[in-house]
Amino acid sequence: MNALRGIAPDLDLLAAGETAEDEALRRAADDARARAVGDDVHLRGLIEFSNHCARGCLYCGLRAPNGAVRRYRMPRPAVLRAARTAAALGCGTAVLQSGEDPALNVAELAGTVREIRRETGLAVTLSPGELPERDLAALREAGAERYLLKIETSNAALFRRLRPGCDPETRLACLETARRLGYQVGSGSMVGLPGQTAEDLRRDIETLRGLDLDMASVGPFIPCEGTPLADGANVPSAETRVRATLRMMALLRIACPELMMPATTALATLDPGARREGLRWGANVIMPNMGDPDFKRDYRIYPGKADTDAGPEAAWRRAVGAIESLGRRAGRGPGHSPRRRGEEA
Ligand code: 5AD
Ligand code: SF4
Repeated sequence: MNALRGIAPDLDLLAAGETAEDEALRRAADDARARAVGDDVHLRGLIEFSNHCARGCLYCGLRAPNGAVRRYRMPRPAVLRAARTAAALGCGTAVLQSGEDPALNVAELAGTVREIRRETGLAVTLSPGELPERDLAALREAGAERYLLKIETSNAALFRRLRPGCDPETRLACLETARRLGYQVGSGSMVGLPGQTAEDLRRDIETLRGLDLDMASVGPFIPCEGTPLADGANVPSAETRVRATLRMMALLRIACPELMMPATTALATLDPGARREGLRWGANVIMPNMGDPDFKRDYRIYPGKADTDAGPEAAWRRAVGAIESLGRRAGRGPGHSPRRRGEEA
């Protein structure tokens, strides 16, 4: 952490309001981003293909015990339609995300991946939760190139409390397996969880750096109705969570300059201007939602999710608007991590 201490020696990540160090931190991250990955902002078309989940994470609206969720699985033609839209709008990647669907049909998903690759040429990122090696291998074989699995928090006690039945070791092993199978791997964490300290957040950065990632995202925690954390007790204010998230993004960018890092939807949900702000604090990716509003409306991991009622074109337009307002431009091609540039056509 020495490099980070040099920039912000006494940085309190959870400080309320703008601190004396914030602007220097932002500038250092923005410079690191420009030098390591340039000005292009890559668009990843997000497709939330199933909101079924077997888990009971205390923070998440999709948790299995939440009976208020209308559950769906997008049929393959609907996923393909969303992927085609993503390609037509200039996204280089389709991100297939879901809960930990107990009935996930891996052969079916592999077929969908194959079809997306064949028909659109998009790079495919998978984010369906923890998977056993044979499933990861089958999906890699089908053409998926990237795998996302967030550590959520590096505080093991907090992780176990918030994710009953899960353990951090299994999660890390899953990321390791994915890397061994040739995936570009991504992870990340949430900011402002109840009981999470500024020291926890510092450790998140160190942990993420230690994972030698291709991609990482940090987003603010947003209390969600239908969950045990709905009342927001012990959660910093929305403004503080947004600031803390931006500081975390900056530190991550400085710690790992070549990361592909999104300005997240959670950030935009707490503050509509914050996605653009994220691009000034180290981010170089936006993930506009390509789902049909009829499905994505029910992907309520947290309330008020940005872009939920708009179609793909509106989400894309907002993303490009934010990018161009900063004098940057939407990247072309798959937007692989620079660590894998050799693979880029
Ligand atoms: N607030 C913010 N992010 C959340 N996630 C889940 N629930 C919430 C919430 N209430 C994020 C987690 C998870 C992904 C599916 O969404 O980081 O990995
Ligand atoms: Fe399921 Fe992921 Fe939500 Fe946990 S965070 S309940 S695994 S969708």
